[in-house]
Amino acid sequence: MTAPTPARTEGAGALPANPAPAEAGQAVAPGLIEISGIDYAYGTGKARKQVLFGNDLRLEAGEFVVLTGPSGSGKTTLLSLIGALRSIQTGSIEVMSYRLAGLSQRRMEEVRREIGFIFQDHNLFDALTAYDTLRLAMRLCRERYTRRDFETRPTRLIESLDIAEQTHAKPKSMSTGQKQRVAIARALINDPKLILADEPTAALDKNRADHVIALLKARVVEQGATIFMVTHDPRIFAFADRVVEMVDGRISRDR
Ligand SMILES: Nc1ncnc2c1ncn2[C@@H]1O[C@H](COP(=O)(O)OP(=O)(O)OP(=O)(O)O)[C@@H](O)[C@H]1O
Ligand SMILES: [Mg+2]
Repeated sequence: MTAPTPARTEGAGALPANPAPAEAGQAVAPGLIEISGIDYAYGTGKARKQVLFGNDLRLEAGEFVVLTGPSGSGKTTLLSLIGALRSIQTGSIEVMSYRLAGLSQRRMEEVRREIGFIFQDHNLFDALTAYDTLRLAMRLCRERYTRRDFETRPTRLIESLDIAEQTHAKPKSMSTGQKQRVAIARALINDPKLILADEPTAALDKNRADHVIALLKARVVEQGATIFMVTHDPRIFAFADRVVEMVDGRISRDR
């Protein structure tokens, strides 16, 4: 029987993650994402506004989970906590066996390097072409790649997202949908085991949205990637293993 992998944390003496209740004699691996008791507030003093309240959620490796819910309900905030883009205030999150609470900025960067992010507002660098955006992202994992990979991988991914004409274009001359696809390519270029996506198809027409979802779903099926995706698009729900709903800062439904 194998023991659950201890959580990777700062400093010595950290306790391993609590395993979920197990059948007698059965080893239980920790989920890929374990969220427990997550609150979050923006601002301090009189300006303090709590936007997340006591959230618990577990995602298994290889799951495609959709997070939906009204605007302002806290979806992006929760995603940014899972992605180590914001520090945890109350509660705990484990991601890929990193325990995030109390991690230093340097260690948070390490966690982020293993995640493919697709942001709600693209976050592309104005000065970089699509091709250079992908090459820069590959440098985060440069030890994996040959010189030839740096030539071929960006081109292949750009072609598969149907933005070949934008290869040497910069964001200011791209449409919103083209920028969105460059951002998707950037998130996928290093074959992340975890993809966090915030409305990745919001700017795409139906055909392109279907294509992107099929491409993401293939990552789950073929590479065992885990996807946690915020979307309002009910058509995407059919592709997901689970749909989780957030209302007023609380995960209210897990169906
Ligand atoms: N940087 C910030 N400073 C202060 N308040 C913020 C900040 N970011 C978000 N909020 C507030 O936190 C709440 C949750 O915002 P969040 O962006 O997480 O919602 P959301 O569910 O992603 O909404 P949407 O569907 O519109 O993207 C909102 O009331 C919002 O006004
Ligand atoms: Mg949002």
